Amino acid sequence: MTATLIPSQQLLVPQLEICGGKKLEGEVRVSGAKNSALVLMAASLLTENSLRLRNMPALSDIGGMADILAALGVQIERGSDWVELQANHLSHISPPYELVNSLRASFFCIGPLLARLGVARVPLPGGCKIGARPVVEHVKGLKALGAQVTIEHGVVSAVVPGRGHRLTGGRIHLDCPSVGATETLMMAAALADGETVIENAAQEPEVIDLAGLIIAMGGRVRGAGTPTITIVGMEKLHGANYMVIPDRIEAGTLLLAGAITRSSLRVTPVIPEHLGAVISKLEECGCQLNNDGIGITIKADRINAVDLRTQPFPGFPTDLQAPFMSLLATAEGSSVITEAIFENRLQHVGDLQRMGADIRTQGNTAFVEGVAQLSGAPVTGSDLRAAAAMVLAGLAADGTTSVQGLQHLDRGYDNLEGKLNAAGASIKRTYA
Ligand code: UD1
Repeated sequence: MTATLIPSQQLLVPQLEICGGKKLEGEVRVSGAKNSALVLMAASLLTENSLRLRNMPALSDIGGMADILAALGVQIERGSDWVELQANHLSHISPPYELVNSLRASFFCIGPLLARLGVARVPLPGGCKIGARPVVEHVKGLKALGAQVTIEHGVVSAVVPGRGHRLTGGRIHLDCPSVGATETLMMAAALADGETVIENAAQEPEVIDLAGLIIAMGGRVRGAGTPTITIVGMEKLHGANYMVIPDRIEAGTLLLAGAITRSSLRVTPVIPEHLGAVISKLEECGCQLNNDGIGITIKADRINAVDLRTQPFPGFPTDLQAPFMSLLATAEGSSVITEAIFENRLQHVGDLQRMGADIRTQGNTAFVEGVAQLSGAPVTGSDLRAAAAMVLAGLAADGTTSVQGLQHLDRGYDNLEGKLNAAGASIKRTYA
């Protein structure tokens, strides 16, 4: 006889039970971009006025960032798809380790805190499963703007010496076009004395979104979306009411859901320029994509094998490598996928193999031989995008796939199962 009973659902592991093989149809809506929303929230530290962000996705990462900002003294009000942040009484310069540890994007606080207060102490975010994720470029850039930075006992401490404790604009050449470093330095430079030029900057759409917000707050930024960004520092920035761009990675995942189920599906809203490399690859696979100016309709029948290599924007995004591998596992022929951004981002291969995929890896390259049919199995998403890849594979598989690792999925996808179910999928959230 069992001696103990599990008293609450919280002790159980949530999972998605996907009954595969259903065609999708109709339209699915894309939420606001997680990676924009997180950095835009941190930008609220740049002003004492109120910042209202619209088109905010409902994600656990957004809740985590709100907790971090609240711990610094930011007043936060949240609605269904908006958040209002006001940093007029900052009470702390150091977010607590427990909160930072669970959210890498929390390191974004260092740039605006330093620019506004002249001092910041942020615990190192540490590595994560997909790679080491250093912050060397962020630190190098802050030093170029006049900060003294030390790293001791796992905490990055930065202070601006001199009267006024204000950063000074400068020229920064990034060794690699890091998205996080570019964004940290843009926020720092926005309140520095004089002009800052960031060379070899990241060109991702989220960088352009941040530039748009800084401009809406009264700042001056040129060149975002190109490798050279110029920021003219202002004495003060003011509040703004700003709309987050649609999530290009979620849009790509939903287009892949249409492709892997060989369906016709409209995904909206999409900014096609944000997904250029992904759209090209889907077309190379044989999918038809029709852009109607607001959304994209994908029609998929036969899927051909293609090769792809991840690159900084405008190249193929590393965040869609795992989801695209699920599609190619069902393609006709052999594909070669190379992950060139993160050193440990092929962990989904093992779980795809459990579902019958024929994949071999060598270093950071996966050789994918398409199979006629994946088969449902219990699998675990080892990180956010790996979890999405498992959901996609489950949509196409024979029988039932149960996907665990939803703590990762829920960080970055706003109601993925609800959206897919509304388009004809059969996905249930259960507790195992
Ligand atoms: C951001 C995205 C993440 C995406 C990644 C790459 C957010 C919140 N996250 O992460 O979803 O997968 O961009 O598109 O926006 N690097 C260094 N030194 C540094 C910083 C980075 O060598 O100081 C390297 C990293 O090890 C990695 C590459 O640069 O190999 C890209 O990293 P980076 O662009 O910084 O990614 P994140 O901003 O962390």
